[in-house]
Amino acid sequence: MTPPAARPLRLVVLISGYGSNLQAIIEAIARGNLNAEIAAVVANRGSAYGLERARLAGIPIRCLTLAASREADRPREAYDADLAGLVAAYRPDLVVLAGWMHVLSPAFLDRFPGQVINLHPALPGQFPGTGAIERAWAACRRGEITVTGVMVHQVAPEVDAGPVLAVAEVPIDPAGSLADLEARIHALEHRLLVETIGQIAAGRRDPS
Ligand code: GAR
Repeated sequence: MTPPAARPLRLVVLISGYGSNLQAIIEAIARGNLNAEIAAVVANRGSAYGLERARLAGIPIRCLTLAASREADRPREAYDADLAGLVAAYRPDLVVLAGWMHVLSPAFLDRFPGQVINLHPALPGQFPGTGAIERAWAACRRGEITVTGVMVHQVAPEVDAGPVLAVAEVPIDPAGSLADLEARIHALEHRLLVETIGQIAAGRRDPS
């Protein structure tokens, strides 16, 4: 007899912008290729297009801006604690940072030990922060590197750092355009993020 399938991994996805990686997760679930469900999508900007993607998919959306917290003169940790409370209310098994552009402090991370993963469009230790693809492309044109990549890692309270769960290299064509490199990296990260969540869902990789 086939053992019963494990229950879907419950995700909360945090976004700041376009949400193409969120879309990749939504589509993988819809196709039956990912044993997961998205309990909520949380953005730090009301204008994040990913919120519209979530709305179209019937997923609950929430928005919590750091600006509002700053205007109220609250310390950064207070924002992270509020965010943790908001996310915890959806009882996630896994919190996925998919283009989330704030560093999260222990005020957030301690609520979800080993349960927060991040996607970054560079190899471990290279080009942390924003503009990673553009900086890798510029470094290639200066003759400094020939390869960049994509990684998924557990989140530590540093910028784009923490134990690596999955990594894939992308060769850079020194004569190629930045748009071409971006397209190849985005296609790869959509696949790598879904695969990594799938491995966690299948229990093949323990995120804690
Ligand atoms: C992705 O390229 C992701 O790797 C990157 O933001 C983009 C979000 O795209 N994340 C970082 O740079 C984290 N430092 P999306 O909104 O279309 O998913």
